[in-house]
Amino acid sequence: IGWQFFFVTEGEYVEITSITKEQSGEYECISSNDVSAPDVRMLQVTVNYPPFISKARSTRTAVGQRGVLQCEASAVPVAAFEWYKEDRKLFNGLNGVKIENKGNHSMLIFFNVSEEDYGNYTCVAMNKMGNTNASIILYGKRCPCLEPTGPGTINDVSRASLSQPSSLCLLVTLIVLYLLKF
Ligand SMILES: *[C@@H]1O[C@H](CO)[C@@H](O)[C@H](O)[C@H]1NC(C)=O
Ligand SMILES: *[C@@H]1O[C@H](CO)[C@@H](O)[C@H](O)[C@H]1NC(C)=O
Ligand SMILES: *[C@@H]1O[C@H](CO)[C@@H](O)[C@H](O)[C@H]1NC(C)=O
Ligand SMILES: *[C@@H]1O[C@H](CO)[C@@H](O)[C@H](O)[C@H]1NC(C)=O
Repeated sequence: IGWQFFFVTEGEYVEITSITKEQSGEYECISSNDVSAPDVRMLQVTVNYPPFISKARSTRTAVGQRGVLQCEASAVPVAAFEWYKEDRKLFNGLNGVKIENKGNHSMLIFFNVSEEDYGNYTCVAMNKMGNTNASIILYGKRCPCLEPTGPGTINDVSRASLSQPSSLCLLVTLIVLYLLKF
């Protein structure tokens, strides 16, 4: 048997003022007198506290991929979770998202990320003691082929594509002029 705290007090009561969550655990009570052997009882003290979000990581996901936003909260009793995009509440199985809650963490899963999915999401963790929330961003992954190119590159490309037809034109004109001589 393990217990986390050991108070040695004599009397019928142990008063713990301003209990903290670290003081949850097993306590042992021993009653004895001169006549019989001491009677020992274990008792479990549970300290309830409102959730605090310990993990809320923003992620970057490309269009067409599976995306996951994660939220983790410490709370007693264990927290229930809700997800929002801006002010709109999200529901499991609707709009291409799945909400998976496992113990102290919740995942918002996108089956297939689209442009419209990018944005600011809110994870709300709550229990009977209170609630808290955190913002998590789903960022887009920029495709390197769409990175803007320098003006020099664009000019070179346009000049190259223009010079080919114009030299062809010149060649045709020269041939026509040559043929016209006869
Ligand atoms: C994801 O969505 C796009 C656009 O709606 C579609 O073209 C693509 O096939 C989907 N991919 C998967 C794996 O469902
Ligand atoms: C969440 O639960 C896991 C596994 O039970 C534990 O290791 C982790 O410390 C917990 N996190 C918080 C914030 O309570
Ligand atoms: C996301 O939304 C929250 C709450 O509305 C706001 O405080 C936060 O600044 C936003 N984050 C970004 C990156 O826009
Ligand atoms: C998040 O928390 C803030 C501050 O407590 C509150 O004003 C806001 O309404 C909460 N947002 C949601 C979606 O619960």
